[in-house]
Amino acid sequence: MQEKMLALVTGANQGLGRQIASELVANGYIVLVGSRDFEKGREAAESIGADAHAIQLDVTDGASIAAAVDRIRSEFGHLDLLVNNAAISNAGIPGRSLEENMAASRASVASIDQMRTVWETNVFAVLALTQAMLPLLRAAPSARILNVSSGVGSLTLNADPSFQYRAGFGVIYAASKTALNAITLSLAIDLEPEGIKVYAASPGFTATALNNFQGTDTVEVGARNLVRAALDTESPTGTFTGPSGILPW
Ligand SMILES: NC(=O)c1ccc[n+]([C@@H]2O[C@H](COP(=O)([O-])OP(=O)(O)OC[C@H]3O[C@@H](n4cnc5c(N)ncnc54)[C@H](OP(=O)(O)O)[C@@H]3O)[C@@H](O)[C@H]2O)c1
Repeated sequence: MQEKMLALVTGANQGLGRQIASELVANGYIVLVGSRDFEKGREAAESIGADAHAIQLDVTDGASIAAAVDRIRSEFGHLDLLVNNAAISNAGIPGRSLEENMAASRASVASIDQMRTVWETNVFAVLALTQAMLPLLRAAPSARILNVSSGVGSLTLNADPSFQYRAGFGVIYAASKTALNAITLSLAIDLEPEGIKVYAASPGFTATALNNFQGTDTVEVGARNLVRAALDTESPTGTFTGPSGILPW
């Protein structure tokens, strides 16, 4: 019998990450449900099923990353799929409306401290975790990395005056996804000779805590492209997609 593939999904205790974890299990994966609060991860994993296992993982905490690497190395010895999903939309201001977040994110007024806090999670932590997981990814026969990005980070789309979300291209959240896109492409180029594929994918505009539940899609609908991209073994590395197909960087 073929061994099941192993995936790690960060920020999988709620929202799109939880949905990705659940659908990867439905597709035959063993999934490590990353959660900075272990108890929330345990509850999510328990509700998903026997092939979902909680793992404490705060992506901004080096000790937490090191402990997760140790656990995966000792229990599994490799990692087939890393889904960098965890992100924040503001610097710890829960319940702030989308409109308030967008206003505070404008380049002319944005707090540099808040920008640093958000980029710490959405950008630097993604690369730090990916680097730490690379030995385990290299130990898998054909590993993949999926970075959960957003169409609102696309420079090409935002340069077009007719892009509907253009007014929301602020420096705190949206530009963090632009930087994540750059990291995605850089990793894809760097890891291509080793056969490790790196993708970026955007969900639909989904009602989650990230946008004070003001998104218009359910998590099931919003996660469709993320699940497709997570299961994709065929597309060329360095591909950025959204619900309607290829997105420009
Ligand atoms: N919702 C949308 O419309 C939309 C659109 C485009 C892209 N996205 C992207 O989709 C991904 C998932 O977001 P979501 O909408 O599902 O939002 P969400 O429900 O707020 O989920 C975000 C997850 O990230 C976790 N997280 C935050 N900081 C973390 C840290 N330092 N370490 C570990 N986990 C951390 C959160 O944990 P806690 O529960 O502990 O806070 C939560 O599990 C994000 O990358 C987001 O940028 C979402």
